[in-house]
Amino acid sequence: MTIAPSATDVAAITPDLTETAAAAAVATADMATAEMASSDASEVDLAALTRPDFPLLSQIACLGQPLIYLDYAATSQKPRQVLEALQHYYGHDNANVHRGAHQLSARATEGFEHARDKVATFVGAFSAREIVYTRNASEAINLVARTWGEANLRPGDEVLLSVMEHHSNLVPWQLLAARTGCVLRHAGLTDSGELDLADWRSKLTERTRLVSLVHVSNTLGCLNPIAELAPLVHAAGALLLVDACQSLPHQRVNVAELGCDFLVGSSHKFCGPTGMGFLWAREALLEAMPPFLGGGEMIQDVGLDTSTWADLPHKFEAGTPAIGEAIGMGAAIDYLQAIGMDRIHAWEQRLTRQLFARLQAIEGLTILGPTPEQQPDRAALAAFSVEGLHANDIAALLDSAGICIRSGHHCTQPLHRHYGLSGTARASLGFTTTLEEIDRFAEELESTIGFLREHS
Ligand SMILES: Cc1ncc(COP(=O)(O)O)c(C=O)c1O
Repeated sequence: MTIAPSATDVAAITPDLTETAAAAAVATADMATAEMASSDASEVDLAALTRPDFPLLSQIACLGQPLIYLDYAATSQKPRQVLEALQHYYGHDNANVHRGAHQLSARATEGFEHARDKVATFVGAFSAREIVYTRNASEAINLVARTWGEANLRPGDEVLLSVMEHHSNLVPWQLLAARTGCVLRHAGLTDSGELDLADWRSKLTERTRLVSLVHVSNTLGCLNPIAELAPLVHAAGALLLVDACQSLPHQRVNVAELGCDFLVGSSHKFCGPTGMGFLWAREALLEAMPPFLGGGEMIQDVGLDTSTWADLPHKFEAGTPAIGEAIGMGAAIDYLQAIGMDRIHAWEQRLTRQLFARLQAIEGLTILGPTPEQQPDRAALAAFSVEGLHANDIAALLDSAGICIRSGHHCTQPLHRHYGLSGTARASLGFTTTLEEIDRFAEELESTIGFLREHS
């Protein structure tokens, strides 16, 4: 647990934080101190403290029921501070970056590059030169596959993945295998729905050149022990890419502590705008990699037949970037850091235990992935199937009661096939989720299941 900030620290981190959120950070700071004495910071109700910053969550859905949003793993909701940062950029500073001599361009460039510094701090990067802006995490993985992959992989070289990967961490490697002749291997799962470490180790060989692994699974909710695996990957002479889409919004992520070589994330998952993501990579790797897309911004000098490339990280950023979105992502990072990632994780652990307790009590319902008892740091989500019922029917009926959950394969088709399922229903939580919302979801789910059973 990080040391609790004072009210002054909080104001300094995010001057624009609402009184409520600042109170949240300070209150949670007090609780953090209390936790050190009582080990009970998980009882801090971050939802009550942050909800006023999320007006979308206060809306009334159909039949006068309050809307309950339980689809955070698909995308997060955005606090007022992020919306205001976007509004401020477009209302005051809008201009193209890096190329204008005028004051608006200077301000836009400053905001855009300052956001890069915030991302670097957020993930513990050595410098902002290691942060490449992309449209999302999918594009960041494609960037590595297209540039590092094509430059380094030969027929027979192996890329080690796992059965639980999101399609975004499968398909780019499939495309790369088709282009280079490299071979894809996939580690399996234990009975509890965690990475099978013995199987993973047996597939890590001297032929492995890259390991690409999800940090937290968007379907199983399990947390993979990246820091333990990294030395093994490096001892085998391979590099390690971490898909941190589902960990960045919910816990502290530090690339140095993880010991990885590449890490990708998507802004929209952690309270930022869509259309924005990033790749972190060690600077030496980025220096050695060829450019990704060609165009303006990524060049140093252009001739008719050849060109030279801009310095890092601009070498990988062709064309006019998503400037306002980068600034919005920076505001989201400010917001999360003012609350504290450790506090967010602690509150979400409390929510997870409640979610599991309620779902486990429902007959015929099976949750994929480890329980909070098996893995206390698992994510605050539950993908589940209900005997004899279709996930889409469950989600549609819940929606009519104002409850938003996801149904389908959640972009993990191979994982669902592993379990012999075509899809599951998934409830995924954020720090704005209340215990009451979980209870109402469970009650509505029970009556939905009863109704569907009666009418099927
Ligand atoms: C684990 C994981 N990886 C990758 C992605 C892809 O993210 P994006 O669609 O923002 O590129 C997601 C999104 O659901 C995800 O959950």
